[in-house]
Amino acid sequence: CFQNIDTFLCRCIGTNAVVARNEATRKDETDEKDERKPLHAVRVERQEQAERSVLISCHSGTNEKKFLKYLSRHGVIKKYFFYESYGVYAVVEFANRESVASLFEEATIPSVSNDSIVPFKSRLLSLRNLSSVDSLNKQSDYQCQPQTTIPINELIQKLSREESIDHQMTSLTEAYQLTEENSRLRFLVCSLLKDIAVAYFPECTIKPFGSSVNGFGKLGCDLDMFLDLDGIHGWNVKMPKSGLSLEFQMKRANSERGVTQSILSVVGECVDQFEPGCVGVQKILNARCPLVRFSHQPSGFQCDLTANNRVAMKSTELLYLYGELDPRVRSLVFTVRCWARAHSITSSIPGAWITNFSLTIMVLFFLQTRRPPIIPTLDHLRELAGPADKSVIEGNDCTFVSDFSKIQLQTNTETLERLLCEFFDFYATFAFSKMSINIRKGKAQNKPEVAPLHIQNPFETSLNVSKNVNTTQLQRFVALCQESSWLLHQSESNMPRDGETATPWGLATLLLPSQVTGIKSCKKRRQEPASERIRSLLESLKGVPVLPHQGG
Ligand code: GTP
Ligand code: MG
Repeated sequence: CFQNIDTFLCRCIGTNAVVARNEATRKDETDEKDERKPLHAVRVERQEQAERSVLISCHSGTNEKKFLKYLSRHGVIKKYFFYESYGVYAVVEFANRESVASLFEEATIPSVSNDSIVPFKSRLLSLRNLSSVDSLNKQSDYQCQPQTTIPINELIQKLSREESIDHQMTSLTEAYQLTEENSRLRFLVCSLLKDIAVAYFPECTIKPFGSSVNGFGKLGCDLDMFLDLDGIHGWNVKMPKSGLSLEFQMKRANSERGVTQSILSVVGECVDQFEPGCVGVQKILNARCPLVRFSHQPSGFQCDLTANNRVAMKSTELLYLYGELDPRVRSLVFTVRCWARAHSITSSIPGAWITNFSLTIMVLFFLQTRRPPIIPTLDHLRELAGPADKSVIEGNDCTFVSDFSKIQLQTNTETLERLLCEFFDFYATFAFSKMSINIRKGKAQNKPEVAPLHIQNPFETSLNVSKNVNTTQLQRFVALCQESSWLLHQSESNMPRDGETATPWGLATLLLPSQVTGIKSCKKRRQEPASERIRSLLESLKGVPVLPHQGG
């Protein structure tokens, strides 16, 4: 869609608009060259884009050209795209915010005969076509941008056509990662929700965190949001030393947690009662990290809104930074996350499973232990930090460098295939009973407490991020690492096949249903003839189930 916009705008709104767009595009292109911006810079840009955007529910026969012509009466359209989720929607980004105001001037209030309406005007609109002659028998001419991943059996076939395991891993990453359009939609949903929250806190922002922005998100992953009140003017202003001054009278509460709970309760209530498109609102205020959970139907996102969760924001920035340091990091994380989900090592339901966050830390730790290391330790990133990077949250030192140019990487030329194989070997034999995984030091440390799996929380260092994991789940993970390592060592399952037949091989074989039911010992399996193993794996492909979506 983006590629055609110049032609469309030329026809619809004349040359000036196109000049404006071309300038904007040039700016975007320049921005794209500067690939390694810190996450906060990316976020500012995306938030600003979202503020100038609207989300429009369209009817299926919408004519793209007429639609653009109609909207461009309100100003220059910078970007737009269509997608499907319980109907067809368009995201339209204007070049200026005034265009949204102009559009609001013209939009009408729905006339309903029996129901009553909540008079809250949001940037979620519906396209109405009153000229019935025009809308009848018209074929839609827009192209929808996919917002979900391909089913696992299609992925397996796609990977089977690749010529090397390295290509398979890159191809998996490309198929699963968030698209440009999906990222925009995530920021737009945050921006729409902010429009409600500002009724109480005019200076607040709602920021996405977790896999929506850390570079490891899979299409269809949940949208974690943080209601940020730190920007409230005066919060950080120093007390004057002498003379008169004024301070706000503010209501007091027993604890910061209490404040967070009451803010989330009120904002959650508003989302439930007033925000169009938000359904199934649940307030989970007694959780360790209080949250409001709901589904945003127009985008199809499962949303978690939190407040006062600044450490999670820092973890997100750290993961993003690691993912940007070397392309192998993201490919290995995507591959391991997909493998883990295919074997139900991770789950969308909370429980004793390893979470995607823990799994990502495990991959990062493994990459720190390579010789030479592929990524530096968190302690090293802290040493490189400048004064502006200093961050202490609730007594926890969350400081690390944000300027990519200060980070010197060592030369490690290992292939993705080798890293995947070594990852499975590493965790198939890791001393989980004694050692803790620690990305601050990049070295296993003695476990400080009893837990089947101990992964030190990078910023709240006395906490274990995998405290929920039980022995059974850890054993399943180890058994699957052994099995996958074994499979990758088999030349039979490891040879690229004829691209036409798409017979599973390499990484595709690892995503097939596992033969480790219960926990067989690896030794026993090694005695089976490899051909038998492969044959039964291939047989099982016929019944590969389509997995439900899960968070990343
Ligand atoms: P998916 O949603 O599964 O794709 O991955 P995610 O990284 O978004 O994980 P999740 O939605 O569970 O959590 C969102 C963010 O909260 C993570 O990226 C972390 O920054 C943070 N987080 C999640 N679990 C933990 C935990 O156990 N400890 C800490 N400190 N932070 C966590
Ligand atoms: Mg998430």
